[in-house]
Amino acid sequence: MNGPGSETNLDAIGFLSSILAGIAQPVWVVDPEGDIRFANPAALAALGYDDAAELHGKPSHQTIHYKHPDGSHYPVEDCPMLRPRQTGETIQFVRRDGTMFPVEYWSAPIETSAGRSAVVAFTNIEARRHLERVTRERDVAQARAAEAGAAQRRIIEAADGARARLARDLHDGAQQQFLNTILNLQRAQHKWTTAPQEALQLVKRAAGEAQAGIEGLRELAAGIHPAILTARGLAAALDALAARLPFRLELQIENVALPPGLESSVYFFCSEALANVTKHAQAQVAWVKTILSDGHLTIEVTDDGVGGAGAPADGALATLRDRIAALGGTLEVTSPPSRGTKLEARLPLT
Ligand SMILES: Nc1ncnc2c1ncn2[C@@H]1O[C@H](COP(=O)(O)OP(=O)(O)OP(=O)(O)O)[C@@H](O)[C@H]1O
Ligand SMILES: [Mg+2]
Repeated sequence: MNGPGSETNLDAIGFLSSILAGIAQPVWVVDPEGDIRFANPAALAALGYDDAAELHGKPSHQTIHYKHPDGSHYPVEDCPMLRPRQTGETIQFVRRDGTMFPVEYWSAPIETSAGRSAVVAFTNIEARRHLERVTRERDVAQARAAEAGAAQRRIIEAADGARARLARDLHDGAQQQFLNTILNLQRAQHKWTTAPQEALQLVKRAAGEAQAGIEGLRELAAGIHPAILTARGLAAALDALAARLPFRLELQIENVALPPGLESSVYFFCSEALANVTKHAQAQVAWVKTILSDGHLTIEVTDDGVGGAGAPADGALATLRDRIAALGGTLEVTSPPSRGTKLEARLPLT
């Protein structure tokens, strides 16, 4: 077997050729003038040539590296490949048919009989690039899909939340007023012949409730808080409510400015709790008290009526519970039979 030391007359390019003919790595050698002196079969295949003679003696740069990816001219003076060194850089080669492909190349000096030449090895990284691009695009698409899904969920949740809030406000506000209208009219009907004066008062009260109900609907449709709340605050709004109740209401309301959303929630909470007193408690007196402490607002609605209000398991007081839960608060109900009912809601102020 011949080795480089013992074959002093063997041209280094020929010697390389004998070793490199069979390997899969594309390799070729460029002489000091920059002309191709050797290209192994793997290099020929990668560059689209059939025969080494087609490349032999051709200027390396002008044959396989003469244009930029955008097709513009690539001056030989700028070419890094003819400065032999180990690089691992990525550049574009041009195939025989003019198409281009990205390569990672390594160029190293080699002494030949013609002088200092360069041996160049390269790897076609088209497939790797493609895989990287596909992976990147897939990651981006997945991230976008996840974001779109999250955005859609947020929109649906916001819409559901808004719908639930509207349903609660309708239930605890206008619906109660129209219910009171009917109750008052029914009572008026019973007293029509026996106590016409009282019946007249009840009809007037019914008209007032219906008017308040219409007002409430108008405000809800406009997406605003009850006008009296905005204009005069919680205590005044509850005062106005008290005037329409068939029992005495005592108020003890902290004089603090609450965020508008919270204030209207507190108002609707009291409105529904007091509507329940009207409908179910047969009470003489009820009390509404708010207490501010510890970053929380506590609202107590108490009556001296029949008690026995349902447990959460029965679905009782569901809108009140939902309203308080939506605000991150808690609701406690104490309602022993014959000993009145106490609702105690505790809401965080933030
Ligand atoms: N203050 C109260 N005193 C006595 N029982 C009450 C009182 N509040 C509520 N209840 C009882 O709890 C039940 C549940 O009240 P809830 O407000 O959930 O329903 P409702 O008032 O009957 O119907 P809606 O509120 O939908 O008009 C009532 O049906 C009633 O039996
Ligand atoms: Mg109710």
